[in-house]
Amino acid sequence: MRSFIGRDILSLKDFERAEFFRVFEVCDRLRPHAEDRRNTDLLKDKTLLTAFYQPSTRTRLATEAAMHRLGGHVLGFSDPRMTRAGDFYQESIKDTVHMLEYYADVIAMRHFQQGAPAEAAKWSSVPVINCGDGWGEHPTQVLTDLYTVLKEKGRIDGLHFMCIGDMRMRTMHSIGYALTNFDCEATFISPPDMSPTEEWKAELVEQNLRFREVEDVKDAIADADVIYMEPVVQADYTKSREERGKTVERTPVKYRVTRDLLRDRGKSDAIILHSLPRMDELPPDVDDTRHARYWEEAFNGVVLRMALLALVLGAVE
Ligand code: CP
Repeated sequence: MRSFIGRDILSLKDFERAEFFRVFEVCDRLRPHAEDRRNTDLLKDKTLLTAFYQPSTRTRLATEAAMHRLGGHVLGFSDPRMTRAGDFYQESIKDTVHMLEYYADVIAMRHFQQGAPAEAAKWSSVPVINCGDGWGEHPTQVLTDLYTVLKEKGRIDGLHFMCIGDMRMRTMHSIGYALTNFDCEATFISPPDMSPTEEWKAELVEQNLRFREVEDVKDAIADADVIYMEPVVQADYTKSREERGKTVERTPVKYRVTRDLLRDRGKSDAIILHSLPRMDELPPDVDDTRHARYWEEAFNGVVLRMALLALVLGAVE
């Protein structure tokens, strides 16, 4: 297994099976600090910089919370319009990163351009963590999700994942790549204009993932151990900022997971993950069912980022 020290976390395409379990093992070790709300001093000499060119609630704040839990320092920006990258100068990633690398020991970046964190990593002498790049990938979210599955189901191998939503989304790309490392089957359900790209499907076939595409959630939910959801009514992730108009479409029934559907057709022990934010594809009354695990997933988002920061900064190897 490759060392994590100093490593960029850009994609799950190149993650090896043993590396997933190494990250999860460190999660278990650091988890008590998050559960007990007890900060430690593991990273007291280190600083995290969050460079967020796109809005975020969970990813940025969970990463910053993780650094605080480990006793580290945090600085950064959550709106590029307050930097020279977002004003008249439109400062390049290269020039920006040549500054940021002097201010911190690790950079967590979200960007509306696919590949921007990889471009940053090319110029940075400190590790770069991809916190979501356009339609590209969202590796820290999917590591969080698989850690949640492991905690909640006791295993990842042998489970059937039903992925519903816009298959062009970065989380969907990362979950597909990740699942190729496990003995899992997947079902993909999306509107035709949001269906998986041929290129992505070819990569999954190449890596031996067994998957099928289905048109309606009711035709697949009976097989699902893990219901993995994203909205189909959503923003364009390739734009720097997109405000919601007055009229919002409703999610068609065949891409929604409701209490009735879970009761009538779902597996009794199926769990639902949703990286959030949600629209109407997952009604709030599902929150009270035994299937909901998205709040545990949100908590695990802090634990997972604690593990990644500790690993790339060499505090646990
Ligand atoms: N899950 C997720 O990426 O949420 P945010 O956009 O709030 O970070």
